[in-house]
Amino acid sequence: MCGIVGYTGAKNCIPVLIEGLKMLEYRGYDSAGVSFLDGKCIRTVKAKGKLSNLEERLEASKLGEMHCGIGHTRWATHGAPSDINSHPHSTEMVSLVHNGIVENHAEIEAFLRQKGYTFVSDTDTERASKLIDMLYKETKDPVATLFRASAAIRGSYAFGVIFSDFPGKIFAIRKDSPLIIAKDASGSFLASDIPAILPYTKEYCRLDEHYVAELSRTDIKIYDENANVSEPKYEVALWNSEQAKKGGFPHFMLKEIYEEPSALESTIERRISNGLPSFDETFPDNILLESIDEIHVVACGTAMHAGLVGKYIIEKLARIPVNVEIASEFHYRDPILKKNSLAIFISQSGETADTLAALRHAKSEGVPTLAIVNVFGSSLAREADYVLYTMAGPEISVASTKAYSVQCAILYLFAAHLALIKQKITSEAARSLCEKLRSELPRAVAATLALNDTIHQISTKISSAEHLFYIGRGIDYQLSIESSLKLKEISYIHSEAYAAGELKHGTISLITDGIPVICIMTDSSLAKKTISGIHEVAARGAHVILICSADIQDEHALPDVETVILPRTEPLLYPFLTATATQLIAYHTSADKGIDVDKPRNLAKSVTVE
Ligand code: F6R
Repeated sequence: MCGIVGYTGAKNCIPVLIEGLKMLEYRGYDSAGVSFLDGKCIRTVKAKGKLSNLEERLEASKLGEMHCGIGHTRWATHGAPSDINSHPHSTEMVSLVHNGIVENHAEIEAFLRQKGYTFVSDTDTERASKLIDMLYKETKDPVATLFRASAAIRGSYAFGVIFSDFPGKIFAIRKDSPLIIAKDASGSFLASDIPAILPYTKEYCRLDEHYVAELSRTDIKIYDENANVSEPKYEVALWNSEQAKKGGFPHFMLKEIYEEPSALESTIERRISNGLPSFDETFPDNILLESIDEIHVVACGTAMHAGLVGKYIIEKLARIPVNVEIASEFHYRDPILKKNSLAIFISQSGETADTLAALRHAKSEGVPTLAIVNVFGSSLAREADYVLYTMAGPEISVASTKAYSVQCAILYLFAAHLALIKQKITSEAARSLCEKLRSELPRAVAATLALNDTIHQISTKISSAEHLFYIGRGIDYQLSIESSLKLKEISYIHSEAYAAGELKHGTISLITDGIPVICIMTDSSLAKKTISGIHEVAARGAHVILICSADIQDEHALPDVETVILPRTEPLLYPFLTATATQLIAYHTSADKGIDVDKPRNLAKSVTVE
């Protein structure tokens, strides 16, 4: 949530900051701004709306080359999107970009008002910038100022700061919000996330919490919380800048859906050894996994929906009860966590504040924690007791697609691993599942992508709907929940997922002439019952669209409705094919409506506030 960039060096930093912000726009995009140090003078340009508005203002401002600056792309928390509420927030001496929330902003404001400060915006960040201004005037030392500010501020923050007395320098500190620093031959970089620095270098260092970074053209200095100089610890990004670009696709979302076969391949390959699921790197012995008799899966949004698929497969194969829960609910309801529980936290970004807070709660209760994350070295990965990385590569589009598929894949393998440990399946059965996941699944997902045109035609039929239902039974209901979220978040069509058998207990009263009902039907054992449900809604005028497995088509008389037949595959693999098909439905519906698919309104990719 909110993207921060900074650059100081030999290059003109205006294009460096703009390109960096473009790569981080997925973190928030309701306004943007930049501040530069022009000698000892701070120059700031900001604009409400998309980054292109800021680019136009920069163009009009006719600034010459700048060599030190900070930039921000915002997802509003305090104060509506507007020019004035955009970051950076500056005084004559200080300019600040911020990602996070200053919880005690009201106290800080009251304190600063007594000192004669006034405020022009509604933002918590302006309060923080003026606090930093005041502390700087007292200390005249940027590093000491940031330590003191950090001690006074409650909440989460990644701060990038420039001081007019320190031309060519950028200072930074963080708590609970990500921040990386990097260097190339031309200068030093600051960013919320790796894609912003990839065009220049793959080497980066994650700033530790409460540490201060001091960036100059030639040097990066890090100070630990006791103000002692500390060596930056560099890591090498596994992604390259090409992966973080659209690569000829009109939108990142479509590109990322098309990357599913290769993302699945990379994720699955890593977790199979000698034909069997392998988690030895993470769990060198089986002592913990042998002892667990209950699992909690905690996550948000799409990642939580991957948990629903995980519940289905873990309970089916390993017969261990799984509770799946929304992270923002989990830690505030005082959940009962038994001694032999394992708590699994799923996240693409690894920075989702609700999931992180839930993980900390589970840890404080003494429950072993496992993070399933896509971003290496992210906060969840570092704080969990155990980590499993998904290998989706960078996911830029706000709507999560390939990350969901690989989260489901890793849960399938983990379920088979647990089932083996618990002696609920034979090695032959586990071996056969691994083989299907490894060789059959990427092919079957690629075959589903080949249905793109058919799926596009179906999407055109729902794009004018105001309301829509996704229905299914069993695992198809769990897939309906994710399909429905995907559609509503990017097409703005109100969509509800319903268990097909539950409609008649109330919701069927909403079925009127022409209302689209998309029915997912891939589980043969439930097909007869689902078909009855289709007849019930069709009889009440629903416009039914069926997403159905090839096996069911062979075995049953299908209702006479528009149908997408998913390619023939192993029954257990259908959830992946369904996900791909319904992601394409959401994508085309949104694109045809002219919506900015990758940046739907009011959303951000990485939700780092609770
Ligand atoms: C929906 C979507 C969100 C995220 C959720 C969790 O398409 O992307 O629902 O799944 O915000 O994000 P991560 O996975 O980064 O924790």
